[in-house]
Amino acid sequence: MPIGNIKINKPLFLAPMHEVTDKPFRLICKELGADIVVTEFASCEALIRDIPKTLKKIEISDEERPIGIQIFGKSQESMSAAAKKIEALKPDFIDINCGCWTKHHATRGEGAGLLKDLGDLEKVVSSVVKSTSLPVTIKTRLGWDDKNIVILDVAKIVETIGVKALTVHCRTRQQGYKGKADWSWLKKIRKATSLFLIGNGDVVNVEDVEKMFEMGCDGVMIGRGALSNPWVFEQAKYFLKTGKYLPAPSLKEKIDLCIRHLKLSVKFRGDYYGVTDFRKYYAGYFHGIPHVAQLRIDLMSLMDINKIIDRLRLFLKETA
Ligand SMILES: Cc1cc2nc3c(=O)[nH]c(=O)nc-3n(C[C@H](O)[C@H](O)[C@H](O)COP(=O)(O)O)c2cc1C
Repeated sequence: MPIGNIKINKPLFLAPMHEVTDKPFRLICKELGADIVVTEFASCEALIRDIPKTLKKIEISDEERPIGIQIFGKSQESMSAAAKKIEALKPDFIDINCGCWTKHHATRGEGAGLLKDLGDLEKVVSSVVKSTSLPVTIKTRLGWDDKNIVILDVAKIVETIGVKALTVHCRTRQQGYKGKADWSWLKKIRKATSLFLIGNGDVVNVEDVEKMFEMGCDGVMIGRGALSNPWVFEQAKYFLKTGKYLPAPSLKEKIDLCIRHLKLSVKFRGDYYGVTDFRKYYAGYFHGIPHVAQLRIDLMSLMDINKIIDRLRLFLKETA
């Protein structure tokens, strides 16, 4: 079953990632083959109070479509009001975060905290479904801990109340990011529901994408794997279509993309934050490249975008 008007076969999703999946990064991943992107999570309480930082997180453009806006919260009234407000931005869907594991959110009953009481989860999700004509999806984990795996129940509940897709990060809340994502649950979820099922967790290369589809997923969502290799989307699509591998991007391609991404960041956030907030992406662009120690030190201190671009081009020239 498609998500609203989105009818893409075997779509690859860019995962919502707080302070990572901002507009510039979404555009870059889109350019490199991500079919569907989702904003980082936005607090429903902050949304209804028009907090500027939160509004910036959900600023979307047509080039990013199809796109989902992700919200989190535990109050039915606030989630419902936030969903109504989001309608004006016309995202392709609203995603509800039922998976955030951090103590700050989960122990307050938000994010993965909703997995502790499926009655609460049902009420919160249902309040959003009822208050919007947009398709509603949810993103969650297997359960609170390994003694309380509830994902099959979650799937049945949300399917009944009209949710259009279910993304499962195949870890428990207790795991955080430890251990390995347990993809074997995807087959069980597939059997339990006819929901549009999006597999997530530890997908880093084309073989992982293929395996996740073999587990019965309708879509695959990639987070950290895209941060260290935003080319993973086009690489996976090519592999699924032809069974062959695309050549890895050259250093020049990496540097060109890094510069384009940096320019988008400055356009989006202005000179200061556009440069400083961008620093988290360098590790991904230069992962596995030898002799980058000095380059990375320089990139962490330079503030002028033109100087950064010159430094990147110099590195390319020296390395070529
Ligand atoms: C830095 C960071 C921020 C994240 N922020 C969010 C978020 O805002 N909403 C959400 O649903 N998941 C968030 N996640 C979880 C990811 O979407 C994803 O479920 C998780 O990283 C597992 O997928 P991966 O192995 O492909 O990274 C975040 C993950 C990371 C690493």
